[in-house]
Amino acid sequence: MTIDLDAPGSSGLLDASSRREISFLSNMYVLGLTLTAGIGGLLFGYDTGVISGALLYIRDDFKAVNDSSVIQETIVSMAMVGAIIGAAGGGWINDVYGRKKATLVADVVFIIGSLVMCAAPDPYILILGRLFVGLGVGVASVTAPVYIAEAAPSEIRGGLVATNVLMITGGQFLSYLVNLAFTEVPGTWRWMLGVAAVPAVVQFCLMVFLPESPRWLYMKDKKSEARVVLEKIYNSDRLEEEIDQLAAAAMQDLESRKRSVSYMDVFKSKEMRLAFFAGAGLQAFQQFTGINTVMYYSPTIVQMAGFASNQLALLLSLIVAAMNAAGTVVGIVLIDRCGRRRLALFSLSGVLVSLVILSLAFILQSSCNSNNQILSLGFCSSGIGWFAVVGLALYIACFAPGMGPVPWAVNSEIYPEAYRGVCGGMSATVNWISNLIVAQTFLSIVELVGTGGTFMIIAGIAVLALLFVYIFVPETKGLTFEQVERIWKERAWGSKASSSGSSQKLLEYVA
Ligand code: BGC
Repeated sequence: MTIDLDAPGSSGLLDASSRREISFLSNMYVLGLTLTAGIGGLLFGYDTGVISGALLYIRDDFKAVNDSSVIQETIVSMAMVGAIIGAAGGGWINDVYGRKKATLVADVVFIIGSLVMCAAPDPYILILGRLFVGLGVGVASVTAPVYIAEAAPSEIRGGLVATNVLMITGGQFLSYLVNLAFTEVPGTWRWMLGVAAVPAVVQFCLMVFLPESPRWLYMKDKKSEARVVLEKIYNSDRLEEEIDQLAAAAMQDLESRKRSVSYMDVFKSKEMRLAFFAGAGLQAFQQFTGINTVMYYSPTIVQMAGFASNQLALLLSLIVAAMNAAGTVVGIVLIDRCGRRRLALFSLSGVLVSLVILSLAFILQSSCNSNNQILSLGFCSSGIGWFAVVGLALYIACFAPGMGPVPWAVNSEIYPEAYRGVCGGMSATVNWISNLIVAQTFLSIVELVGTGGTFMIIAGIAVLALLFVYIFVPETKGLTFEQVERIWKERAWGSKASSSGSSQKLLEYVA
C-alpha cells in the first residue's frame, strides 16, 4: 500500500471530498450509534437542569438545607465539581481503555449516584450522590463527542456531534417538564433525581452491543476489529479510502504512541499547544458568554424584568429551554454546510447584539425606577420588561445553533488520535470550571454592578470571543482527521514543514 500525502488525486487525503456524500439520515447504523452515545448528553442536560426545581422540595424535607444557603449551593455545585474531575480523568480513561468502556464506567457511576440521591437519608449523602452523578456526567461529556466523531463520516461529523448537544438541550427541557410533573407526587425530589438512572441503564444495555470506536481500535493495533466496524459504516470503495487514512494517521502518531501520552505532553509540542488553545478557548468562551446564566437564571431574569408571577416565569423558562433545543436542530443542519467557524462567528455576533439589548433594557429599567422624569417622558412601562424578554429570546436563538454545538464539535475533531481523549478531557474540564465560575459569580456580580452592567460585561466577553474565533479557530468542516492534523503543523511550522515531514515519515512507514 502506498499513499502520497502531497499528491492531489491520489488515494490519499486531498481528493477525498469528491466522493464524500453520505447524508445525515442515510446511515442508520451511525445514527443509532450517535443516539445511543448521545444518552450521555441527555444525562448531562437532565442533571444540570433538574436540580433547580428539585432544590425547592429538598428544602422542605431537610431543615438543615432550608437554613443554610451554603448547603444549598453545595448540593447544586457538587455535581459540577464531580464533572470537572470526571472530565479530566475521563480523557485518560478514553485513551487507555477506549470509548466504549469509558461510556460503561460513566453509566455505572451515574446509576450509583442517582440511586444514592434517591434514597438519601440526609443532605450529606445527597451531596455524595451529586458528586457521583457529576463524575458520570463529566466522563460522558468527553466520551460521547469523541466516540461519535470517530465513527462519523467526515461530511456529517459536525451534525452528528451536534446531535449529542441536542440531547443536552433536550435533556434540560425534559428536566423542566419532569420538575412540573412530579410536583404533586409524594417524594417529589427523590423521583426527580432518581429517575435519571433509567436512561443510564438503557445506555448501558445498548452500549454492550455497540462496537468500540474503529479509530481507537486501529490505533491500538486491533486492525481487523476496526475493519469489521468500518464495514458497517462505509461501502467498499470508501472503506479502503478510510483504512488508507487510518494507516496514514497511525504512521503519523507512531512516534507519540511509543510512549503513552501524558497531560504534560500536550504542552511540549507547538502544534498541540495551538490546537489545545483553540479548543479550550472555545469551551471557555462558550461558558463566559453566559449561556448558563440564561439557562439557570432565566426565571430570575424574567422576574428582574418586572414579571412578578412565578408561573409566568417558569413558563417562560420552559419556552427558553424549548427554543434552545429547537435552535440546536438548526445547528445540526447548518454545521456541516456553513462550517464551524462561520457558524460560531454569526452566532457570537447575534449573541453580542442580544446582550446589548438585555443590558440596555435593564439599565433603562433601573433608571426608570429611580427617575420619574424619564417616566413622564413615557419610556417606562411594562414595554421594557418585554424588551428584556426579546433580548433573552434573541440570545437563545443566536446561541443555540452556533456557540452551543461548535465548541463540542471542534474539540471532537481537532486533536490527533493519540491526544484526542486527553485534550478533549482537558478542554471539557475547562468548560466545566468556567461553568462553575459563571454559576457561582453571576448573582454576586449582579449585586455589584447591576443586571444591566453584568450583561454589558458579558457583551464585552462576546467581543473577545469573536476575535478569538476569528484569529485562532481554523475551519474543519468536512476535513478528515488527518487533514486537520496538517492544519496545526502548518500553523506551527509553515506549509513546507508539514508536507515534507509527513511525506518523509509516510515513505519510511510504507517502506
Ligand atoms: C453547554 C452547556 C449548556 C448547554 C445549553 C451546552 O453546549 O456545554 O453548558 O447548558 O449547551 O445550551
